[in-house]
Amino acid sequence: MKSSVLRIEQSPPLHGTVSLLGAKNAVLVIIASLILTRGKSILKNVPASDDVFNMIEVLRSLNAQAHFDKETHTLVVDTSALDKWSVSPSLMKKMRASILVMGPLLARFGRAHVAVPGGCVIGERPIDYHVKNFKKMGVIFEQQAEYLHAYASHIHPARIVLEYPSVGATENVLMAAVATPGTTEIINAALEPEVLDLIVVLRKMGAHIEIHAPAIISITGVTDFHPVEHEVVVDRLEAGALLLAAAVTNGSLTITNARSDIMDVFLAKLEEMGHVITVSAAGLTLQATADPYAVSFKTGPYPGFPTDLQAPMMAAQCLAQGVSIVEETVFENRLLHVRELQKMGAQIKVEYTKATITGVDDLYGTAVIATDIRASCALALAGLVAHGVTTMTGLHHWTRGYDGLEKKLKAVGARMELMSDDMFNPLIAPYTAEYPIQK
Ligand code: UD1
Repeated sequence: MKSSVLRIEQSPPLHGTVSLLGAKNAVLVIIASLILTRGKSILKNVPASDDVFNMIEVLRSLNAQAHFDKETHTLVVDTSALDKWSVSPSLMKKMRASILVMGPLLARFGRAHVAVPGGCVIGERPIDYHVKNFKKMGVIFEQQAEYLHAYASHIHPARIVLEYPSVGATENVLMAAVATPGTTEIINAALEPEVLDLIVVLRKMGAHIEIHAPAIISITGVTDFHPVEHEVVVDRLEAGALLLAAAVTNGSLTITNARSDIMDVFLAKLEEMGHVITVSAAGLTLQATADPYAVSFKTGPYPGFPTDLQAPMMAAQCLAQGVSIVEETVFENRLLHVRELQKMGAQIKVEYTKATITGVDDLYGTAVIATDIRASCALALAGLVAHGVTTMTGLHHWTRGYDGLEKKLKAVGARMELMSDDMFNPLIAPYTAEYPIQK
């Protein structure tokens, strides 16, 4: 039976050792990039999260064969029989990242036929950068009902200037450019670790890609793309969630395979709070301070503070000493977790995309709703320290983004459980203690 509630009890300090799976945001685009190849590729360290299942379904719908071993986290994809270039609206609507098939479909078939992904709760999330820049490469777009038809008799190289270093637009253009004769440059490209992992994969396939300062990707097109074997880069966002779980519970955790070199600004902020971060042969360790200081931060493209860790980091600010100012600059509506944290007793004021958090002594468990993947993480973290019991619904966001994070946390001392509707008794679950009403 599908779980619908995450039940979290106030937990003791978390202690122990954990390890990371591959980054969901890297896996999704790498699966899409396999459209360029003909043959059997093997991806390792693949998280069994719902977004990954959805992207596998997208490739199957194009006639690729896929076998995913969830125990060994190994995904085998055979693209030999892949012969379609049309993705149904029902698959496209499950996940915005499915727009990433457009670049490789254009490269392989000269056309792509996809439904337009809608906006989502964290913002409008248009695809204008994708469309505008494919047009510069000679692609023609026609919208028919729900479908966007993209086609080109001859895709040509171009100097692509992104007005914002969009992760998805960089990846999409990159995957079309690797098969476009001549040299394409992407100026102001996104260089997130997940984009760099895609570049590693594309090079393994045979692509010619160079990266120049300050943020230019230069691609010289080739014609043959071999299948690949690749271990996906570890998930820095899962790492962030685990370190914050140790921080908020005043515990200590070591992540055996974390990449501290791709988490610099986030780790610096944890240290500024007073937590001790060490990197050793055993891994990346956070030893929490009992009295953390509030810190302010502003999200931005890599190597700035990741927008995907904004909500989880905010949960940690709710109980820190002092005032924290959090500015979300990447997405225009990514503070919806604030309302739920306020229900738990957090003191937060929001003005447009800026939140001011004044640390409190206690949070209180209650029924909360996750509105997006990273909001679900923030609420789970707050639930670990809140008095009593927190019950979180909107659980599909948690399972879209994380593979068994609740089990990992439980193994190091967290009291949390996924529950189905019939196991969950709302009469006894939510903690009903009074807490100060927010003004
Ligand atoms: C990816 C990540 C997501 C992360 C985000 C920023 C995946 C599957 N998702 O999303 O987890 O939060 O990067 O690091 O990798 N924009 C436009 N027009 C466009 C494209 C983007 O206006 O055509 C805007 C977006 O609305 C947003 C900003 O640019 O405000 C950044 O978006 P982008 O970097 O493209 O994010 P995604 O690739 O969608």
